[in-house]
Amino acid sequence: MPKPAARAENLTKIYGQGAMEVVALRSVSVSLVQGEFTAIMGPSGSGKSTLMHCLAGLDSISGGEVFLGDTALSSLGDKALTQLRRDEVGFIFQSFNLIPTLTAAENITLPLDIAGRKPDPGWFATVVDTVGLRDRLTHRPSELSGGQQQRVACARALVSRPAIIFADEPTGNLDSTASAEVLGFLRRSVDEFHQTIVMVTHEPSAAAYADRVIFLSDGQIVDSIRKPTAEGVLDKMKSLDTSQAADGEAEVVAEVVDATWSAEAAAPEAG
Ligand SMILES: Nc1ncnc2c1ncn2[C@@H]1O[C@H](COP(=O)(O)OP(=O)(O)O)[C@@H](O)[C@H]1O
Ligand SMILES: [Mg+2]
Repeated sequence: MPKPAARAENLTKIYGQGAMEVVALRSVSVSLVQGEFTAIMGPSGSGKSTLMHCLAGLDSISGGEVFLGDTALSSLGDKALTQLRRDEVGFIFQSFNLIPTLTAAENITLPLDIAGRKPDPGWFATVVDTVGLRDRLTHRPSELSGGQQQRVACARALVSRPAIIFADEPTGNLDSTASAEVLGFLRRSVDEFHQTIVMVTHEPSAAAYADRVIFLSDGQIVDSIRKPTAEGVLDKMKSLDTSQAADGEAEVVAEVVDATWSAEAAAPEAG
């Protein structure tokens, strides 16, 4: 039975208070199995980034529980949480987030340097060769293409051997060739190194690299598919969009009816 690298139990996340309140996640339960590549999809504002930030211990939660491995995050103080995140979680962002004054090699080992750990030389070499950066290690980010910068970010996430890597639209700023390289690398790190990866994307072709796709809508998981194809994902997205559009239409109709009623109610007075 594969163990979850991370999981959420009835996770609720509410931003703001009173009239400003936004329920970003509504009692979400999900298990992210070790050695699996999961894609999270859904319309803008459906809670994808929030879910990832809560699972990664980057954001506080309003209800339920999040586990990284066997550890319930609510049981940890700030210091222990920071340490767990540093040791067990890797991140890849849409905007690469590299330090411009550091070389590629220095960027890759930065999280380990901060933690006072030495990179394992054999593993560092494996990671660098896997992402194809051997001849770029002394370059600074400004001397690298977008695809190369994102591969540095992938190597940085992988070099500490985290239990789980979270990637928020990692190919959002890349052309199709560079996207394919980065996604191919993420796929290999799952197949060859048994890495666990969770990736938010809005591109069906990117989601097709995953083992499983989870669909979010309005803060809830509404569907999931295994062994996704780009076509299958696109069909699912269309059907979710249609049901959302139908909801939207019903709301507009309700508003129009309300307005008509008030106008009618007001009419006798006016007459
Ligand atoms: N820091 C925040 N403060 C208030 N509301 C937020 C904040 N972050 C996200 N939200 C709201 O929570 C909902 C989910 O946002 P998000 O997780 O960013 O969605 P997605 O990544 O799917 O586009 C949206 O309605 C968004 O406006
Ligand atoms: Mg987002």
